[in-house]
Amino acid sequence: MTKLFTCLLTVALLALASSLASAHDPSSLQDFCVAVNNSNSAVFVNGKFCKDPKLTTADDFFLPGLDVPGSTSNQVGSNVTLINVDRFPGLNTLGIALARVDYAPYGLNPPHIHPRATEIQTVIEGTLLVGFVTSNPDNRFITKVLNKGDVFVFPMGLIHFQFNIGETNALAFSSLSSQNPGVITIANATFGSNPPINPDVLAKAFQLDKTSNMTKLFTCLLTVVLLALASSLASAHDPSPLQDFCVAVNNPDSAGMYLLYYALVNGKFCKDPKLTTVDDFIFMGLDVPRNTLNQLGSNVTLVNVDMFPGLNTLGIALAHVDYAPYGLNPPHIHPRASKLLTVIEGTLLVGFVTSNPDN
Ligand SMILES: *[C@@H]1O[C@H](CO)[C@@H](O)[C@H](O)[C@H]1NC(C)=O
Ligand SMILES: *[C@@H]1O[C@H](CO)[C@@H](O)[C@H](O)[C@H]1NC(C)=O
Ligand SMILES: *[C@@H]1O[C@H](CO)[C@@H](O)[C@H](O)[C@H]1NC(C)=O
Ligand SMILES: *[C@@H]1O[C@H](CO)[C@@H](O)[C@H](O)[C@H]1NC(C)=O
Ligand SMILES: *[C@@H]1O[C@H](CO)[C@@H](O)[C@H](O)[C@H]1NC(C)=O
Repeated sequence: MTKLFTCLLTVALLALASSLASAHDPSSLQDFCVAVNNSNSAVFVNGKFCKDPKLTTADDFFLPGLDVPGSTSNQVGSNVTLINVDRFPGLNTLGIALARVDYAPYGLNPPHIHPRATEIQTVIEGTLLVGFVTSNPDNRFITKVLNKGDVFVFPMGLIHFQFNIGETNALAFSSLSSQNPGVITIANATFGSNPPINPDVLAKAFQLDKTSNMTKLFTCLLTVVLLALASSLASAHDPSPLQDFCVAVNNPDSAGMYLLYYALVNGKFCKDPKLTTVDDFIFMGLDVPRNTLNQLGSNVTLVNVDMFPGLNTLGIALAHVDYAPYGLNPPHIHPRASKLLTVIEGTLLVGFVTSNPDN
């Protein structure tokens, strides 16, 4: 076993070394950097101080309680429990965050953007109407009804929402490709700023006379989104897709004329954005348990860019893992990604080993 372990580590280090040359996600430069508030303990890294790695414990990488629904007794009938680096210091420098979203019947997670993250959402219960709007000049509204087990991706920096159109509560989990995705709720940022934006500015921007007019409101919202996007791109450290999205096509021929304008992007060709449909941003069937009748008693359904072309350039992927009783997902590494695991059912023993020389 010792030799096997050494061998595994060598393979892991080789894989890591080769990945660092080509990875486009941010590198944390060390295994992790659990955030602490005490400025005397270390140097300044990505906005947070690092705890001495030797003093970290398993609890730095653990957060219980995401099985508890958030209260949806509020005006919009939804509740987002965002687990970012402020709630979960172990996420620091890892480029990932998570949210649990509860929806009352007809509850709405109102139009908002994450200036620094792509979001990939899985519906656990209920039926959601979701959508996002592409940037200027097209402003295409891409929308879909999602059911249990459906996965949808909201590209970074685009205005999006989810609306529970069912008569029962709905539940979804989202992963976000930044330790601090940020949220800008459009209506609040525009009409509820502190101090308020001068009404003349709003009136001019919205081309309103007095009371609000939805057509104009929408135009203004998009302007706000674009301003927010522009300001976020300047400071984002996660990868930028350089355009709203780049739905991958395997066969360059199917990209047709578009290839004349768009070269190879991150290893995949982009579909002509005008030819994309809502189906490019949805993946279905994650509610179906996978067959665990194999030697390990587990089955990983990895939803990466090869299975879900809409993820291309967005820096995020998702996995659904089924475990039989005493099933094992054996020791492995993801050379290009941090992983945030949420247990939906059952009891798991999990662990990871730090790099040399401490291990
Ligand atoms: C860090 O300090 C802030 C403000 O004092 C506090 O809200 C936050 O919970 C602290 N974070 C940790 C991980 O202790
Ligand atoms: C979300 O749920 C939590 C826990 O129930 C509650 O403390 C919080 O006030 C809720 N937030 C909103 C906006 O309703
Ligand atoms: C948006 O503004 C409304 C009205 O003031 C408030 O009830 C709500 O909590 C705000 N939402 C967020 C996400 O700040
Ligand atoms: C909003 O303004 C446009 C242009 O002035 C007008 O055509 C439209 O009817 C207005 N909508 C409402 C709901 O007042
Ligand atoms: C995982 O489950 C799928 C669907 O049930 C099955 O086709 C596949 O062979 C399984 N993989 C393993 C490794 O058991």
